[in-house]
Amino acid sequence: MRSLRWRFVALALFALPGPGARGADPAPAPAPAPAAQGQYKYPTLRKVDNKPLPDGVTAGSSMAPFSAGDCAFCHQSNDRKNPGPVKKQGNDLCYTCHEEFKEIMARRYKHPPAVALCTNCHNPHNAKEKKLLHEEQTSQCFDCHKPIKTIAETSKVKHGALTTERKCANCHNPHGANIEKLLTALPFDQCVGCHAVDTMKDWNGVTLTNFKKLLEENKVWHKPVLSKDCSACHRTHGGNNFRLLVAEYPAQFYAPYDLKTYALCYGCHNEKVVSAEQTTTLTNFRDGSRNLHYLHVHKTERGRTCRACHEVHAAKQAFRVRESVPYGSAGWLLKINYTKTPTGGTCTKTCHETRTYVNKPLSAQNSK
Ligand code: HEC
Ligand code: HEC
Ligand code: HEC
Ligand code: HEC
Ligand code: HEC
Ligand code: HEC
Ligand code: HEC
Ligand code: HEC
Ligand code: HEC
Repeated sequence: MRSLRWRFVALALFALPGPGARGADPAPAPAPAPAAQGQYKYPTLRKVDNKPLPDGVTAGSSMAPFSAGDCAFCHQSNDRKNPGPVKKQGNDLCYTCHEEFKEIMARRYKHPPAVALCTNCHNPHNAKEKKLLHEEQTSQCFDCHKPIKTIAETSKVKHGALTTERKCANCHNPHGANIEKLLTALPFDQCVGCHAVDTMKDWNGVTLTNFKKLLEENKVWHKPVLSKDCSACHRTHGGNNFRLLVAEYPAQFYAPYDLKTYALCYGCHNEKVVSAEQTTTLTNFRDGSRNLHYLHVHKTERGRTCRACHEVHAAKQAFRVRESVPYGSAGWLLKINYTKTPTGGTCTKTCHETRTYVNKPLSAQNSK
């Protein structure tokens, strides 16, 4: 079960006005009381080797003062064989040159192992890895963050965000940040910021949506998207459901009806919208009392999934009824041609010839 607390914090923080509004920094919340050593879930120190790489080993990165042979800036002497102990203990040595880190490490949220010792992750001389990292970045993080390691490694659906470009640092600042969970930006801005290209593909080679474009061009946003809460439906580090979803949702256009395969939608919507054969109250997608959600979706075979008619994120018209839907794996677009009318709606030349439903008594139409 994911952290509900975070969900509520997220909803409160990200409920910003109107589609298209960019996420601003939330009003600063009171800083949490600094936890004393030993109160943390994970260790703050790692056993590492801070010696320079042995001669002959190719360095992937090295620090300028070391390459310059300037041992004595940090050590007692310039004697390469025996430079003696360091002049300043701990991070203060680093801050003498890396002055920008005084600001970074003064941010609201600080990463305890960075507060404890910069050399937990960086070799002060050189390293095989980039950025003087003792080991490959992610494996260092996983050294302490076992639960995330388990999710990232054992989930059926993996998220490319963890393995491309700057890996964990795509979203987290390993030193300090002004946003909870050491995030470099609000999650919505991170998601939309990276999913802003036409060329991104999933592991099966399927082209993913350019969300920046989608959200700009389609102004009817689903409520949780409007609340800037992508995490209401998706897991960030990996998950076991289709599309990293927090609960089950059918992957195909057609699916036999089974309540539990729509757990995602029914986490927030009343399942009776679909499962009640007759109703005059539960849904407006009905002809009189005949529930057309039931008619289309509730089938033992080839039930239409919600995607047959609704865009889940954003669309151009009310109820996010789609203009068209990809039909079959070749991506042929089936037009929906839906028009909302004052008494119901009409679909023309789609899966079927023109059909109209009426969900209001004629008197309502006459009085308009
Ligand atoms: C930017 C600062 C800095 C520079 C420059 C630097 N060192 Fe170091 N060095 C350190 C720190 C920090 C440690 C770890 C100290 C500790 O663990 O107590 C260290 C540790 C060492 C150690 C391991 C000592 C031990 O007992 O394990 C050796 C060997 C060493 N340095 C050699 C050198 C040599 C040779 C040079 C110059 C070519 C050099 N260092 C330049 C910061 C520096
Ligand atoms: C004598 C000054 C000096 C001290 C002391 C110093 N650094 Fe640096 N460090 C530098 C310089 C110069 C660079 C290269 C700057 C650049 O490329 O922007 C650098 C770069 C780095 C980088 C980036 C390397 C890369 O490949 O991009 C890291 C990480 C780093 N230092 C960590 C540390 C840590 C940890 C300490 C304390 C143990 C420390 N530094 C102490 C001068 C120093
Ligand atoms: C938990 C591991 C960890 C600790 C502890 C840590 N760093 Fe880093 N640091 C990283 C990682 C990972 C990167 C690379 C981030 C990236 O690719 O954007 C990095 C990058 C850097 C860079 C290069 C920045 C750049 O933009 O290229 C510097 C300088 C640096 N760290 C200094 C420090 C100093 C100073 C401390 C102590 C206050 C420290 N680090 C503590 C993990 C750590
Ligand atoms: C030496 C152990 C250690 C390493 C290595 C380490 N962390 Fe952490 N990390 C911690 C501790 C301790 C906390 C504080 C957790 C708590 O509040 O109990 C923490 C907290 C965090 C948090 C915030 C979680 C929260 O609940 O607020 C994030 C995000 C995070 N680490 C990411 C990373 C990333 C990314 C890396 C690799 C670059 C990394 N960590 C490497 C020990 C480590
Ligand atoms: C796409 C952005 C993104 C990437 C990449 C990412 N994270 Fe996170 N991480 C988040 C967000 C958002 C949260 C807070 C909400 C949540 O828990 O999902 C978070 C939360 C965390 C937490 C706190 C978990 C908790 O239960 O409080 C840790 C620790 C963490 N991440 C570590 C990592 C590590 C390690 C990596 C790299 C393997 C990584 N993250 C990669 C976005 C990211
Ligand atoms: C640093 C870039 C980056 C960020 C930030 C990012 N993603 Fe992704 N995402 C990717 C890449 C690359 C893929 C394609 C590989 C894959 O399918 O995982 C992807 C794939 C996905 C998929 C499809 C997964 C599948 O294979 O079915 C979903 C869903 C997704 N991202 C949601 C999100 C959400 C929600 C966020 C914000 C919490 C987010 N992404 C942030 C890079 C990113
Ligand atoms: C109400 C739940 C919900 C919310 C909120 C949500 N998604 Fe989705 N997302 C889905 C569902 C359901 C799918 C699968 C759609 C399909 O296959 O028809 C999906 C698919 C995706 C995919 C993979 C498919 C593609 O075309 O790229 C990405 C990436 C994605 N979402 C990113 C995001 C981002 C970014 C946000 C926040 C702006 C977000 N989602 C918010 C439910 C949601
Ligand atoms: C995190 C909660 C959440 C999830 C999950 C969710 N919805 Fe919604 N949905 C909402 C909210 C809130 C509204 C707005 C209801 C209102 O205004 O009365 C809404 C409205 C709608 C509407 C009405 C059109 C509109 O935009 O007002 C449709 C259609 C819809 N959702 C379809 C779906 C489908 C299909 C799924 C599953 C793929 C789903 N929802 C999953 C929260 C959710
Ligand atoms: C055959 C097309 C179709 C399918 C499939 C479909 N819907 Fe709808 N849905 C509609 C139409 C059309 C409306 C607008 C009804 C109106 O207000 O006239 C609607 C409205 C809604 C609403 C708004 C409240 C209401 O019922 O009036 C929700 C919520 C909703 N649908 C959820 C879902 C969910 C969840 C699924 C999948 C389990 C789904 N729909 C499948 C066509 C469809």
